[in-house]
Formats: sequence, structure tokens, C-alpha cells
Amino acid sequence: MLGLEKIEHIGIAVKNLEESNLLFEKILNTKCYKIEEVESEGVKTSFFQNGPNKMELLQATRADSPIAKFIEKKGEGIHHIAFSVKNIREEMQRLKAEGCLLLNDEPKVGADNKLVCFIHPKSANGVLIELCQDTN
Ligand code: CO
Repeated sequence: MLGLEKIEHIGIAVKNLEESNLLFEKILNTKCYKIEEVESEGVKTSFFQNGPNKMELLQATRADSPIAKFIEKKGEGIHHIAFSVKNIREEMQRLKAEGCLLLNDEPKVGADNKLVCFIHPKSANGVLIELCQDTN
């Protein structure tokens, strides 16, 4: 059955990844388990797993990065909610047929071994939704 499955992670835009890693290590009382740069997106990300929940912190690595633009407009804070999907291409087709505006026509390679695609916030009450499919 097609559809979005569980929340895979919540993404938070931050100005300074090092400082925010220390902050969230304190808040969640768990260590960041991975730091990864996604060159194509102009972001550096870190991941936390607390119980069943995963969080992603994102810092821009250049001025034209979507994260830099987001922080300029809205400041730091919740940037996106990611849902796991079994078949990203089929979900993208389904959502397009529902009239949703997608930010990319083809799945992109995201952080943490995922294929990803974003639904434009215009199509989701102002929420940026990430679809992600495991690649391993
Ligand atoms: Co994400």
C-alpha cells in the first residue's frame, strides 16, 4: 500500500552545528552518532537517536544553501518533518497525481543513506515534508 509511513526524523535548522550538537547532547542526553556533509545541498548534518526518535540538525555550508535561506527568513528552528516511504518513486507519482508540488522531479541522494524528495510547503500548510527511502 502506498502512503507515508512513520516519522523518520525531524530536521532542525541551526546556525552553528558544533554548538547545537553540544546543546542537543545535553537536551536529549545522548551523543550525536553521525556527522555528514551533503555537498550537493550545501549542508552539514548531524544525527541523534533518542529511543525510537531521530533528529537531524542542519547547518548551511554556503550562502546559497536552502538552510541559509531558511534561517535568513525564519530564523533557527524546525525545518522539516521526514516520513519514511517504501517506494519513493511511486509515492512521488501518487502525490503529483494528488496535486502536490514536489521540490524535485527525481529522488535525490540525501544524508544517512537515503533517497529523498521534498513536498513544497505550499502544498502542506507551510510544512516542508521530506519523503525518504532507505538505500541499504
Ligand atoms: Co531530513
